[in-house]
Amino acid sequence: MSFSFRLLRTVSRREFYKARTNFIANTTPPTFPLFTNKASAIAIPFSKKARVFSTTTEEKSGGGGGSKLIWIAAGLIGAGAGYYIFSTQQTVQKVDPVATPPPKKEIDYQNVYNQIADILEDNDYDDGSFGPVLLRLAWHSSGTYDKETGTGGSNGATMRFAQEGGYGANAGLNVARDKLEKIKEKNPEISYSDLWTLAGVVAVQELGGPTIPWRPGRADVDASFTTPDGRLPDASQGAKHIRDIFYRMGFDDREIVALCGAHALGRCHPTRSGFDGPWTFSPTVFTNDFFKELLNKKWVEKKWKGPKQYVDKQTGDLMMLPADLAFIQDKSFRQWVEKYAKDEQLFFKDFADAFRKLLELGVPFTGNEKVYTFKRTSE
Ligand code: HEM
Repeated sequence: MSFSFRLLRTVSRREFYKARTNFIANTTPPTFPLFTNKASAIAIPFSKKARVFSTTTEEKSGGGGGSKLIWIAAGLIGAGAGYYIFSTQQTVQKVDPVATPPPKKEIDYQNVYNQIADILEDNDYDDGSFGPVLLRLAWHSSGTYDKETGTGGSNGATMRFAQEGGYGANAGLNVARDKLEKIKEKNPEISYSDLWTLAGVVAVQELGGPTIPWRPGRADVDASFTTPDGRLPDASQGAKHIRDIFYRMGFDDREIVALCGAHALGRCHPTRSGFDGPWTFSPTVFTNDFFKELLNKKWVEKKWKGPKQYVDKQTGDLMMLPADLAFIQDKSFRQWVEKYAKDEQLFFKDFADAFRKLLELGVPFTGNEKVYTFKRTSE
């Protein structure tokens, strides 16, 4: 006997009775969708199906007398065993998912974009916007990529699970994930990994940054795909470490500097990373100010009990991480800081290219996905 696998999904009591009534009326096969999200489906050996109610045939295309007989058998089993099955929360087999793919609901991504844009502003949160923390979520969910092994990256959204969510580098990102949960509830068909990356695009565009072309196609996977801790940069280190981390993802020096210009937005939180303060005086507007401040201010070590960081000598209100200062200490990095400080358009263009690349790392695109460029809500 050949060894085959079947995918399972739980069928509600209502769906079951509707199907059984259909069967009794005209022996029509059940019409409830038997498919579930591939990533969350469970595969069990066919030989272990004994306690499972079969509502489907093994045949890929129906219509033959054989399949009718199986429907009759299925109906009888259903009629007799229904109570037992539903009182014990059994699952139901489904046919080969390749044969008849589930009807896929078209997602209006511009609409999802607008919904995310709607929840950004909040005067009671930080500097008045959730944009920076959403951007950081998009980056941290993508920045685990390793080009050698093809592991990590935005595909999968493994930060949903306690292990990765609990890594020190991700402290505080529960705020972003919780915020997006409302959007997920309203749009259950979008994967978390598409949603989180899309939120990064929304943050950049709505806060005044460049247009980031984005395409869907990420699927959520289970916790076994979680990458080990230590793949994201350590803010207390310098140029060598930064290169080790970003070269592993496949970026060069120019792209690294462009990406880190995102520190124009947001701030450090003592309760999250341990560091404190914003990088710029306009932390909710996407600008090239991070580079300007790096070059134009005098940075002195902050006198405090927290981790080593720098503040601007004049006001003490702005901050830089040791890793940020590496961008002006290292010659190859510094040339890009100087260019971006002078030319915001160049920075915007390079950031858009590098950020799109970041969000797509490790995603098994088919090549047929539509590439979206979203309208800002202000347009
Ligand atoms: C050397 C590389 C990097 C290091 C060491 C680094 C480190 C950090 C640290 C320590 C924080 C503070 C977190 C907190 O306390 O809330 C932070 C915040 C932030 N980072 Fe980075 N980061 C790096 C690269 C990037 C990149 C590539 C992006 C985006 C493309 C980014 C976007 C952000 C944003 C937007 C925030 C502000 C979050 C908020 O306001 O809640 N960072 N980063």
